[in-house]
Amino acid sequence: MAIQAHFKPRPSDILLLTSPKSGTTWLKALSFATLHRHSFSLSDHPFLTNTPHQCVPFLERFFSHRTIPNLNVLPSPTIFATHLPFSLLPQRALRCRIVFLWRDPKDTFVSLCHFLDRWMGSSAEHTSTTQGLDLSKAFQMFSQGTSAFGPFWDHVLGYWTESLRSPEMVLFFRYEEMIEDAVSHLRRLAQFMGCPFSMEEERDGVVDDIVQLCSFDNLREVEVNKDNKGSFEEKRPPASSFFRKGKVGDWVNYLSMEMAEKLDAITKEKLHGSGLTFESSSVVP
Ligand code: A3P
Repeated sequence: MAIQAHFKPRPSDILLLTSPKSGTTWLKALSFATLHRHSFSLSDHPFLTNTPHQCVPFLERFFSHRTIPNLNVLPSPTIFATHLPFSLLPQRALRCRIVFLWRDPKDTFVSLCHFLDRWMGSSAEHTSTTQGLDLSKAFQMFSQGTSAFGPFWDHVLGYWTESLRSPEMVLFFRYEEMIEDAVSHLRRLAQFMGCPFSMEEERDGVVDDIVQLCSFDNLREVEVNKDNKGSFEEKRPPASSFFRKGKVGDWVNYLSMEMAEKLDAITKEKLHGSGLTFESSSVVP
């Protein structure tokens, strides 16, 4: 309600939109590093001391206090992120550019279970089960659409439809395609944000440098080191919990065939007629 009443983005601002566990952290890192590439060098980069979530905070966090933040004092453009479904996004937000990222719901669900499990205290990371969480109950809820920011499929379809209506304002990405070709996605992202890479930058390897800076292995190492020093915020998930495996198709290690087929069937049924096609992800080595 606070966001709807008081979030007034400037047309220059950029809004990153995702369902939880679809690759938000990666998208935040890539957009921030690209937009601010002239302000930092690799040796003094904010990612060495701050997480991508600190560099690009969630709108939900800005508006989580009793006072209304004055976002106009932030530099223009500012990148914001949110998990809000399209149906709850204030109309005013449509005047800024939106980058939407989605992911195979099977991997999204598995990632979510691990994250919640870890956040709730029982470290299930790197085991073959999600130990503390009742996986079949969680699966039932997810497939019925009981998710923190609304049903997964409605979330995707809301922004997909808007991207068809207004392609110059909504850039639509899929995690698996970014994993396959991060460089060309980064070029498109830069172009969309209004800061395309110059010929000189291309020649000097700036695009590859940013992809490398924001790679799973690089960011994870930085965050694990920081967590080990105890520098995480209380009552927040440790920064390293946003970096688990970063793989496509990890669902095969956790979901039964029956579960996978059920989620695929829901996805196909929900997307039917929308023009958005869905290929189930399979393991990328
Ligand atoms: P897994 O749990 O499958 O490993 P979000 O950022 O929306 O919370 O999503 C977290 C998921 O994105 C996790 O997936 C995490 O490992 C993956 N991820 C985080 N940073 C990444 C990066 N730089 N490159 C690729 N995947 C990344």
